[in-house]
Amino acid sequence: MMLKTNLKKENNHFDFRNGILHVEELSVVDLAKATKTPFYVYSTGALEDSYNALSNSLKGLNHSIYYSVKSNSNLAVLRVLTLLGSGMDVVSGGEYLRARKVGVAGEKIVFSGVGKTSEEMELALTQGIRQFNVESVPEILQLNSIAARLGKIAPVSIRVNPDVNARTHEKIMTGKSENKFGIPITQAEEAYKMAGDLRNISIVGIDVHIGSQITDLTPFKKAFQKIRELVGSLRNLDHEIRRVDIGGGLGISYSKNRKNPISPNDFSKMLASIFGGMDLEIQIEPGRYISGNSGLLITSVIYMKEGTDHNFLIIDAGMNDLMRPALYDASHEFIPVLSSSESEFGIEVNVVGPICESSDTFSRKTVLPRLLAGDLLAIYSAGAYGAVMASEYNTRPLIPELLVKGNRSSIIRARPDIFETINRDQIPYWLR
Ligand code: LLP
Repeated sequence: MMLKTNLKKENNHFDFRNGILHVEELSVVDLAKATKTPFYVYSTGALEDSYNALSNSLKGLNHSIYYSVKSNSNLAVLRVLTLLGSGMDVVSGGEYLRARKVGVAGEKIVFSGVGKTSEEMELALTQGIRQFNVESVPEILQLNSIAARLGKIAPVSIRVNPDVNARTHEKIMTGKSENKFGIPITQAEEAYKMAGDLRNISIVGIDVHIGSQITDLTPFKKAFQKIRELVGSLRNLDHEIRRVDIGGGLGISYSKNRKNPISPNDFSKMLASIFGGMDLEIQIEPGRYISGNSGLLITSVIYMKEGTDHNFLIIDAGMNDLMRPALYDASHEFIPVLSSSESEFGIEVNVVGPICESSDTFSRKTVLPRLLAGDLLAIYSAGAYGAVMASEYNTRPLIPELLVKGNRSSIIRARPDIFETINRDQIPYWLR
């Protein structure tokens, strides 16, 4: 019996104990007493486990991990991963500064993104950078001139667009020729030649990222095979390709089983089969795989309303707090925080937020126990692209974030005072 409990604890950081959902050792009911809903809560153990699972599976390969900061950029989350030895993949000066603030050396930061500004290039060149993943010829030229002005050499990998369908939601596909990302694979040799001739650019590798929430290996394989071929031809042209940055994109499960669609071991085997023996360092930029199933959004029921076509369960979290369902038709699982209600007769509801838009719908035709005003619900798989994409639409202040480790919890971003939010605006003197 004892053994069973321990095993459960080890594998799942969001578990029911005595009918109450817990995050590690802490009851969500108690967390919600201390912090008004809605709020995000992350598990340190879950972050560590997902990072370690990936890192262990890649052990046989010469590799390094750059956590994609955009998926969850809270400083506390970044700190957990930094302490595990992770590097960071950033896409803005702001993300770069966050990584530096939690103690990541410039040499462990890769700078991605299709529109880096001169200021951002200067920041990274001055404070240190492992590589810029550059995405266009004008960007390479701009980087070269900034580096020249600063008397620096900019380390560069060119992001190549392999024209591969990642078979994910259209809005998060990035590797098709019609997408804005990367340099078309057909123009890659030319771009390398141009970059190689510039004095303040040093070529270190090649980069590819075909999309996010990818749930089968095939698109990865197709893209990486094209990259392997290109590495061969670039080396024949005397370019020094030491590293291949394979981007992020590993999908997670948004359903009850929480079993990742691609096992990290299979992913690693595929990488070995494609890049093995090529004397390349493999860099990976996972975001969602690490943070996605490490966080919940805790919300309360405001009203239960019976319509003519549907019953609406109106909750206090809105599309401004978690945009994924409205933006990508994403479905997140809802679980009542008290499991006793689970055994009751279920009722079909559309779960909606309080925002004045019909797109503020989290799920349709979901069967949930009959819930009353004030009852708590957990929205699962909310650790990635949740808090970071939130807005203050409808003048709703950004919601708090909590981090749990064992029996400790800490507010890692506080709810702003409503007047802080409102008073950021200013009425010009001629309107006073
Ligand atoms: N590297 C690059 C260059 C990226 O653009 C991204 C994500 C990643 C790595 C990390 O990808 P991941 O491992 O998390 O799939 N907001 C969307 C996802 C947008 C992803 C943008 N780029 C969503 O909520 O599904």
